[in-house]
Amino acid sequence: MPSESGRKSGDHVFHRDVRKHMPLIVRAEGIYLYDDTGKRYIDGCSGSQVVNIGHGVEEIVRAIEAQARTVAFTHGSRFTTRPLIRLAEMVSELSPPGLERVYFVSGGSEAVEATIKFTRTYFIERDGPGTNKHNLIARWHGFHGNTLGALSATGHMPRRRKYAPMLVAFPHVPACYCYRCHYGKTHPSCGVACAEALEEMILAQGADTVAAFIAEPLVGAASGAVPPVDEYWPRVREICSKYDVLLIADEVMTGFGRTGADFAVNHWGVVPDIIACAKGMSAGYSPLGAMVVREELYDVLRRGSGRFTHGHTYGGNPLSAATGVAVLEYYRRHRLCDNSRLMGELMFKLAAPLADSPIVGDIRGRGLFMGVELVEEKATRRPFPAELAIGEKLTQKCMAHGLVVYPGSGHADGKAGDHVLIGPPLTVTADEVAELVRCLAAGLADLEVELGVRAAN
Ligand SMILES: Cc1ncc(COP(=O)(O)O)c(C=O)c1O
Repeated sequence: MPSESGRKSGDHVFHRDVRKHMPLIVRAEGIYLYDDTGKRYIDGCSGSQVVNIGHGVEEIVRAIEAQARTVAFTHGSRFTTRPLIRLAEMVSELSPPGLERVYFVSGGSEAVEATIKFTRTYFIERDGPGTNKHNLIARWHGFHGNTLGALSATGHMPRRRKYAPMLVAFPHVPACYCYRCHYGKTHPSCGVACAEALEEMILAQGADTVAAFIAEPLVGAASGAVPPVDEYWPRVREICSKYDVLLIADEVMTGFGRTGADFAVNHWGVVPDIIACAKGMSAGYSPLGAMVVREELYDVLRRGSGRFTHGHTYGGNPLSAATGVAVLEYYRRHRLCDNSRLMGELMFKLAAPLADSPIVGDIRGRGLFMGVELVEEKATRRPFPAELAIGEKLTQKCMAHGLVVYPGSGHADGKAGDHVLIGPPLTVTADEVAELVRCLAAGLADLEVELGVRAAN
């Protein structure tokens, strides 16, 4: 119905893309979403690797309801609550050894903001207000969030470009991305030059100015589930320790079982100083994020001023904390990390034949975290022109076949480069994995026909 102002009622939402048609989702259960026409979609990317325990889990709804009845909100500057204490204990149990203090926020960007400010706070507390340690080194192929601090750490150009004049000038180094090695080298003869680049950057900036290095264990949205070589994280750990630089692992996407380990740094036995996490911790049932820090760092603050001058109204709210407790209980009881590893192996096995497609350049990832990179010419790895928006096109084709995937672009040269991320809920079964891969293959085949590289049936 048009309203008096002439607008249609219910049409006031400011969407991210104001031109795009958004299906109206009315229900969700397990790995499936349903729109108002009755069409069913596999949530093949768990939103954005969020809904790790699947949709519509009754016990989570009951836990949220019970907490809302008990106390929905208290402010973090005055009170603590039982679910908050319990969740911190659970997160610290899942974290690498020594990471025992958990600072809660409402999402991934906020978690990263907290890590950036905490590293500065730590050095002030330890060395006094005259410390010069303030700089954060990040990576070009990285995404850490859209708030201005987290975006300053983010290297991914399509997300940065418009706002570049407003960002903090944090230095960036190349990520470990063998398919498009920044140095044009090949592993292992490369000597893992991308890790050595961190040492060079620390020396160039002056170690006395560098507070921290931040990286995603596997690059997520910025280039599509890109795993590093095995030497990368241990070497990065060594370099950070050598120069008194704190190592921050951004596990917002990879945390809580996504890659088949509770935290992805565990694959390499590396213990970072700080972890940023979010998404899977509450699996989308309520906004939640956290910074997890090593006890020794926390101790410096405790023995010093005792105050971390940073906070958000909803940080540590009991409703989200109760959600997190229920989600992580479910995650542990159903051994979802093991399922991620097992179903991930199956997903990569079933998807392997897709690598024969003339437009698939690379399939990579770990656990239930898979990236499919699309290229115009396989031999040279030449990407499609950015204007074709091939990742978005593949997403639309997959949606027509009832599969939602998560597209990304710009990782080849800052503009061109297309991939889709696949990451179903960690509850996915073998039959559902097979169905997902069939839908992906069908979407890809349709795209090949449209591009004229495959004959129509
Ligand atoms: C690795 C990483 N860090 C940070 C963020 C930002 O999280 P949020 O969107 O919850 O602010 C994301 C979001 O996708 C992410 O993937």
